[in-house]
Amino acid sequence: MKFYHSVFLLLLVSALLLESDSRLHRRTVEGKVIVASYIQSKPDAPNVIRTWVREPKLVKSCNDIKLYGQMNTKGEATIAKDGFFMINVYGNVTYTPVYCDMESDPKAGWTLLVTSRSMAGWNKDNILSHNEGTPTLNADYSILGKADQIKMGTSANVVQYRLEAGSPGHWGGVWEAPVDYSFTHNMNDQTNVTLVAKFGDWDYGPRSIGQRMPWIVEDPTLPAVLTTAERPDQDWYGTIVGSDLGLPAFQGTNAPWIQNLTEAPGAIWYWMRELGECT
Ligand SMILES: *[C@@H]1O[C@H](CO)[C@@H](O)[C@H](O)[C@H]1NC(C)=O
Ligand SMILES: *[C@@H]1O[C@H](CO)[C@@H](O)[C@H](O)[C@H]1NC(C)=O
Ligand SMILES: *[C@@H]1O[C@H](CO)[C@@H](O)[C@H](O)[C@H]1NC(C)=O
Repeated sequence: MKFYHSVFLLLLVSALLLESDSRLHRRTVEGKVIVASYIQSKPDAPNVIRTWVREPKLVKSCNDIKLYGQMNTKGEATIAKDGFFMINVYGNVTYTPVYCDMESDPKAGWTLLVTSRSMAGWNKDNILSHNEGTPTLNADYSILGKADQIKMGTSANVVQYRLEAGSPGHWGGVWEAPVDYSFTHNMNDQTNVTLVAKFGDWDYGPRSIGQRMPWIVEDPTLPAVLTTAERPDQDWYGTIVGSDLGLPAFQGTNAPWIQNLTEAPGAIWYWMRELGECT
């Protein structure tokens, strides 16, 4: 009796399994995506996906972190808050702290390269690396010397940079530059740049932002250190970082930006975002 009972149960279970299996099969044939709803009901699925994506990837920039750092089950980036992150620029054990703008663009992360708050303490040597251990929007800071390394290996033929002054999203814009342009160039000839987003009603000119990638002025007698100006020996508006050569008009402030509109905006920020996949 007991034996038949067990066989009956077994047959019942098998029949139910077969029934659900054939129902699944039917539903699949009818074109319903039953697999997706099955996986979604498993709470630990995201961990599996994150591990698989993360292991082979050394994050080189804020954009990398945004795109690959952490994903949900749909493969969408979940890092959505601005803040401090560690990036691996060189592919060795050295990590660099950075400040990331993860919020202004839903699909991209921007790496802060330079914050210019004052002209005190800047010079031609430290423009590449200034207060590197303390990335901040609120004090003088630069990791400009790492920018070319960050853009290396991107699959796109352009790189984007963003300038803003006074407050985030003002008096500047987003530019696209050929990927072989250098962030540490020391001449005024990287001019094939395209403004793809404009913040504020300003025009290019000698007393405004210049249509060129910011470049490092090596002449130590000029106050401009990092500028978009064409001739910083004549007009140095459009300058991101100035050095303190004792110019009375600019004591305690930062470099001149746009005449009449925002002469000394109090803060200028320089960001980068590489496009395409970094390797
Ligand atoms: C990583 O590489 C960079 C650039 O070559 C170098 O400056 C740094 O010292 C390296 N770090 C280590 C721990 O080897
Ligand atoms: C300017 O840059 C674009 C990419 O942004 C490139 O396609 C174009 O060939 C460049 N033009 C010149 C004259 O170098
Ligand atoms: C700023 O205003 C002065 C006086 O009106 C004018 O001559 C100059 O061209 C203006 N500068 C810019 C960049 O528009």
